[in-house]
Amino acid sequence: MKILLVAGARPNFMKIAPLIDAIKKHPSIHPVLVHTGQHYDEKMSGLFFHELGIPEPDVNLEVGSGSHAVQTAEIMTRFEPVLLEQKPDCVLVVGDVNSTIACGLVAVKLGVRLIHVEAGLRSFDRDMPEEINRILTDSISDILFCSEPSGVGNLLKEGVPEEKIHLVGNVMIDTLLRHRDKAEKSLILDDLQLREKKFAVATIHRPANVDDEGTLTRIMSVLHVIGNDAPVVFPIHPRTKQRLASWNIKNDPEKIIFTDPLGYLDFLKLVSSACVVLTDSGGIQEETTILKVPCLTLRENTERPCTVEIGSNQLVGTDPEKILSAYQAVQRGKIKAGNIPPLWDGNAAERIVTVLRNH
Ligand code: UD1
Repeated sequence: MKILLVAGARPNFMKIAPLIDAIKKHPSIHPVLVHTGQHYDEKMSGLFFHELGIPEPDVNLEVGSGSHAVQTAEIMTRFEPVLLEQKPDCVLVVGDVNSTIACGLVAVKLGVRLIHVEAGLRSFDRDMPEEINRILTDSISDILFCSEPSGVGNLLKEGVPEEKIHLVGNVMIDTLLRHRDKAEKSLILDDLQLREKKFAVATIHRPANVDDEGTLTRIMSVLHVIGNDAPVVFPIHPRTKQRLASWNIKNDPEKIIFTDPLGYLDFLKLVSSACVVLTDSGGIQEETTILKVPCLTLRENTERPCTVEIGSNQLVGTDPEKILSAYQAVQRGKIKAGNIPPLWDGNAAERIVTVLRNH
């Protein structure tokens, strides 16, 4: 069986890595890796391939940045000839980025079976580009692998036949568990002069939070207030960096320590050593759940409800008062202990390969 795997943006890389490892154990499956080039900076892409031991992509479409339409169309245009040449038995896409839907659509139109890993997640917020990508990708997929029970429920409600759906656990957590020991050796705390559990971590990059000047200004001001209490380390996404510069939103480096986007191991060490994480990322809600670090999600909704129901995550929105009072509650020791969701045990990729071999 020839399987073509697609990776495009930073959150895809930690999902693809364990799948390639699991596939390599079965000589009957021949993997071909395509990088769309949606993310292309060394710190957003190359570093992850190196740290996670992902092989060099067989093909790089080098699409780069653009508006949603331009980026999605460019990926489709460049992916189609690759698919025609490679003639795989199936295409596997992960997550919810533009590369996911673009390559998925090309595959099904050419009659190639489509596999979606991390299917069924729903924020029920159609203003999020990722929600549109999730709904569309799931609706055209032939095999759908879910990371949490809510995904299965959502797909069944949308009319996806039960036999197409498999609850297998979380491939992102496979990667985390595999790299935890190595991350312990990271020197990031020394480099940034931080003490264990005496600092917070923030990552903010969602369009809803950073593309509106008022919202971004309010978030930055509450992070400064928190920074009076504990320094806030903020690895900054290129989109957020551009917005802060264009609106001239100032920063006090004593309170908020900006860094470039960090590699996987440094970031894992940073998060596991933080007293609290403030984020609008999807994957970080899951990672903090496994690490049992309190997570305040600066969004009104989450497509990963098990991190709230079972894990250490709380939805706090973007109202500065709510964020601050949630932070203060954590500092007073009101910490949600949290448990580990079912099947988040490091073996999701193996389960996926077993299902694929049985097909
Ligand atoms: C994408 C995903 C989002 C994911 C995020 C993780 C979609 C719709 N969104 O958003 O779900 O959480 O990745 O990072 O696919 N840029 C660089 N260097 C890069 C890549 C991007 O400087 O290597 C800059 C460009 O100016 C670009 C901007 O970042 O315009 C945004 O990049 P883009 O790929 O459009 O979306 P993200 O915001 O990264």
